[in-house]
Amino acid sequence: ATSREAWGERTPSAARSARNGVGLITIDGPAGAGKSTVAQLLAQRLGLRYLDTGATYRALAYEALARGINLRNAAHVAGLVGRVRVRVRQDASGRLRVEVDGQDVTWQIRSEAVTDAAAIIAQFPVVRLRLVALQRRLVAGRRTVAEGRDTGSFVFPKAAHKFFLTATVRVRAARRQHELRQLHGRSASRTLIARQLRARDAMDVRRTVGPLVRPAGAVVIDTSRLTAGQ
Ligand code: C5P
Repeated sequence: ATSREAWGERTPSAARSARNGVGLITIDGPAGAGKSTVAQLLAQRLGLRYLDTGATYRALAYEALARGINLRNAAHVAGLVGRVRVRVRQDASGRLRVEVDGQDVTWQIRSEAVTDAAAIIAQFPVVRLRLVALQRRLVAGRRTVAEGRDTGSFVFPKAAHKFFLTATVRVRAARRQHELRQLHGRSASRTLIARQLRARDAMDVRRTVGPLVRPAGAVVIDTSRLTAGQ
């Protein structure tokens, strides 16, 4: 993507099709439900783009931490959205790359510190509204699979196809445990992870703007006993 595309400067027809939700698939659900795995597989199989909306919250949280900004100051955090350039793009092999002001932070935004910080800043309406605008620009009318917590309900309410993935806390904690081992070589207790997941779920469900909900008309899939391919 060019930098213009990265910021999603749209042509009028692209803007129109984005508004109409043509070629848009949304996948929402709680952490560990399998959204990003399934969204990437689906995008690959159907030849669509892939947007991980959580990556925009993570990129902003990363930058706020790097600049020593008080995470509880919504205005300061939201102000960053206009001052830093966040790019979310796919590389030649289809993998997602995330850049902040030209620096590749794909790996850094998966740290536990950033995971916690992202959950905090995602609570603030002003931060959400800024990031939702960015997410819409990133799609810019292109055929995309978007995943997150509010993509079908709030970011792209007119999406042509909506899915809501869910799984038991037990299964989601097991997946997170596996991911922690793979990504950070860290072993953590499943009970502790389950407690953290419940806390994150509660924050996602209770916020006033863009809460985690099952979007009207979404196909609900419990992935507890399914493989990614299934
Ligand atoms: O999905 P992921 O774990 O990368 O999301 C990081 C954080 O961003 C989560 O804590 C979640 O609350 C928030 N988020 C959100 N809305 C989205 C996607 C992610 O609030 N659409």
